[in-house]
Amino acid sequence: MLVTGKEILDHANKHNYAVGAFNVNNMEIVQAIIEAAEEMNAPVILQASQGAIKYAGIEYITALARVAASKVKVPVAIHLDHGTDFEQVMLCIRHGFTSVMIDGSRYELNKNIEITKKVVEVAHAVGVSVEAELGKIGGTEDDISVDEREATFTDPEEAKIFVDETKVDSLAIAVGTAHGVYKGEPKLDFDRIKAIKEKVGIPLVLHGSSGVPADAIERAVSLGINKINIDTDLRIAFTQAMKDYHREHPDNIDPRKVLGPAREAMKEVIKEKIALFGSAGRA
Ligand code: G3H
Ligand code: ZN
Repeated sequence: MLVTGKEILDHANKHNYAVGAFNVNNMEIVQAIIEAAEEMNAPVILQASQGAIKYAGIEYITALARVAASKVKVPVAIHLDHGTDFEQVMLCIRHGFTSVMIDGSRYELNKNIEITKKVVEVAHAVGVSVEAELGKIGGTEDDISVDEREATFTDPEEAKIFVDETKVDSLAIAVGTAHGVYKGEPKLDFDRIKAIKEKVGIPLVLHGSSGVPADAIERAVSLGINKINIDTDLRIAFTQAMKDYHREHPDNIDPRKVLGPAREAMKEVIKEKIALFGSAGRA
């Protein structure tokens, strides 16, 4: 069932759990996520980055996600991940996304407020939810790269000003995670998550969540994280299963024989994440 991001995240916020937001790029990935969510009776967010839209085409991405959402009873939102400009966000809204992220984190506070506010005004007028980002999350997510030395943590006071001014529905915060594969173990600033949540009250979003230890995820959720973005762990599961199949069947020429096991491997990872985030049985 297709719903807005706000509907999903406000329920998670009220009942202290987090919803998985998984990145989609093709049909098999969409199917893996939707089957996992349905089997776990969990709400879920299908999110497409600008890179995914460039790769698959916005019509394909939206059509796949809409069909997936219409086939299940669990709540499903279609979300733009790391939208960086107004036009891109509008295009996604016009194609039926029910939630969008405007990532103005590369700008200073006032400019970030300004562009986020503009998106919120238009998106809310047509019933679409908005996620914004404050602070800079390190690492690489498709086209967006932030050098580790330039990554800056979210300031709780600024977060309060930002949320009051923009009226955004959810906020992505920088608290020690990074996009991509971690070199060492990530260290999350739990006191900061708590302080931000106390100031803003709205659903908080954790990006760069692949590779974060389970106990850290659980603690982050208990302190107010309600949306957890996962991309890298799915990529690893998918490509590893493809490599394994190729190694065992070097003469295979049927794409379905490779993509089927890859879809299954990804689905297993998604089910583990859903259980860890506390969203199983919440649909
Ligand atoms: O926006 C997407 C996420 O932040 C994905 O991060 O690739 O580290 O899981 P990840
Ligand atoms: Zn991200």
